[in-house]
Amino acid sequence: LNRAVAELSAKKTPVDNTRMQSINDILTDIFSTAISRAFPDLTDPPIVIALSGSNPKFGDYQCNSAMPLSNIYKQSGKKVAPRDLGQKIIDNVESHEIIEKLELAGPGFINVYLNKQFGLKNLSTIFVHGVNPPQLPRKLNVLVDFSSPNIAKEMHVGHLRSTIIGDSICRLLEFLGHDVLRINHVGDWGTQFGMLIAHLHDKYPDFHEKSPPIGDLQAFYKESKQRFDEDEDFKKRAYASVVKLQSFYPIYKKAWELICDVSRKEFQRIYDRLDIKLIERGESFYQTRMEAIVKDLQAGGYLEEDEGRKVMWGSQGGQNIPLTVVKSDGGFTYDTSDLAALKQRVDEEKCDWIIYVTDAGQATHFNTLFGCARKAGLLTEKIRVDHVGFGVVLGEDKKKFKTRSGDTVRLLDLLDEGLKRALDKLKEKEREKVLTPEELKQAQEAIAYGCIKYADLSHNRNHEYVFSFDKMLEDKGNTAVYLLYAYTRIRSIARNANFTPEKIKELAKTCQISLDHEKEWKLGKVLSRFPDVLLKITKDLCLHHICEYMYEISTTFTEFYDSCYCIERDSSGDVVKVNHGRILLAEATAMILEKCFSIIGMKPVSRM
Ligand code: ARG
Repeated sequence: LNRAVAELSAKKTPVDNTRMQSINDILTDIFSTAISRAFPDLTDPPIVIALSGSNPKFGDYQCNSAMPLSNIYKQSGKKVAPRDLGQKIIDNVESHEIIEKLELAGPGFINVYLNKQFGLKNLSTIFVHGVNPPQLPRKLNVLVDFSSPNIAKEMHVGHLRSTIIGDSICRLLEFLGHDVLRINHVGDWGTQFGMLIAHLHDKYPDFHEKSPPIGDLQAFYKESKQRFDEDEDFKKRAYASVVKLQSFYPIYKKAWELICDVSRKEFQRIYDRLDIKLIERGESFYQTRMEAIVKDLQAGGYLEEDEGRKVMWGSQGGQNIPLTVVKSDGGFTYDTSDLAALKQRVDEEKCDWIIYVTDAGQATHFNTLFGCARKAGLLTEKIRVDHVGFGVVLGEDKKKFKTRSGDTVRLLDLLDEGLKRALDKLKEKEREKVLTPEELKQAQEAIAYGCIKYADLSHNRNHEYVFSFDKMLEDKGNTAVYLLYAYTRIRSIARNANFTPEKIKELAKTCQISLDHEKEWKLGKVLSRFPDVLLKITKDLCLHHICEYMYEISTTFTEFYDSCYCIERDSSGDVVKVNHGRILLAEATAMILEKCFSIIGMKPVSRM
């Protein structure tokens, strides 16, 4: 054995029988051992494992390393047919419980057929231990910076996207067992506060004794902005107010708090409705840290003068633009607060991983930020940073999402419309006659909020997407409504056979999941991919993978259910036979789907 092989076998941790295993990981292990053994002369050979796709004649998985290996040999002047390399790999694979058989195909693909007994064992763990996450190599401190609207300004659909995507990333990482800090980096410290405070002063001079009626902050913001634009004297006072606020002058701080509170309450109503937890830590939190970091950067020689501003370059040249660290009037910017926040997150929060969720338009800002932070030593290679960008939300006319009159859509109005539409949909199906008022309300909320979240998450986040209630509420295709119905249908199978969850757990002790029929085994294999789907998302942070997976589970379940009876009834409708192994398979499907729902922040209902 060469060293690589020895290391590989040393690293193997004992199998944890309380959780489903990642098939990808196991196959990667098996094939890297085999490949190192077959080609001891190569360092770091390519290990390519993929799903085989829908045609069963290519097996379940494939190892596609032979082609890149043959290229490597070709470059060093040796000509070997990929097919021969494929055969050599197969010859070096040790037998393993996961592999039923291997097959050489085409120019050197290796088709892998999974072993049913392994599938059965792997899947059955969930009846004893529940649906657990795959084993973590290491628990990480992760900070997710998401939602982050701006005080006194509109919280718009872009912030809604950030909120939904960020929350789902948190839910996934929490499920995997990481320590997750959910941070709302609200814009609460910008120059807009100068004019807001100055206007508050003039309009409600007794604001510090009696809470001013500024419930409609939008209007208040407009008024102050108008004065700011038209009145030079007011403008001066506005600037002076920011300076006083930023040095924490009490009366200004009080005014600022009043204004923030109004926004905060408004934001919270959205978070409550969507069941989103966030810790508010706005730009203001970093004021003293901004002062400190500017000194440090200055001392380190990282700042350059540029027309009175102090700027910092991440890397020189090309299309790059620098960060503005200090404005010509001495004030700080969005860039300054992000530098200070990054340092705080690394030094104080001890983050291993920091994730920022904003619209794709901010990609350059974050790339420059990361570049500057590395240059100044605030970030090391050990810390992972991601900017999770997303495309804009469009209206059905494919233009920027607006109301009919051209205003930005208020998020609360949007949620209300969702509720109304969801209820209409249920009434159209006359569900109010079947469900209790409580069940109806639960179904309505599950549909309304579920469809808004799902529409967002099921699209590749990098693309723009069209917001359409009509599309979201369709009950066919990859939609929330389809999945919610699929889930209730699956749940109703056991219920109709009078199996409670407890009874099913008992049953699982004596009976095995049925995987004999071709459609049962097909479903079993889809369910077995659960750990791999989650692990894949941790790499690219694209949540549409889990949505596609949920859809695949549902359609594969339908195929199974269409060809395999679970309960047999006689002509009078009485249950005459129950197939226990299939009840278990249906239950496993429901359990895994339920976990997926919880990761994307949806609340399925058992009746709707
Ligand atoms: N408030 C910003 C906006 O509305 C988003 C902040 C994102 N987080 C950050 N650390 N820059 O665009």
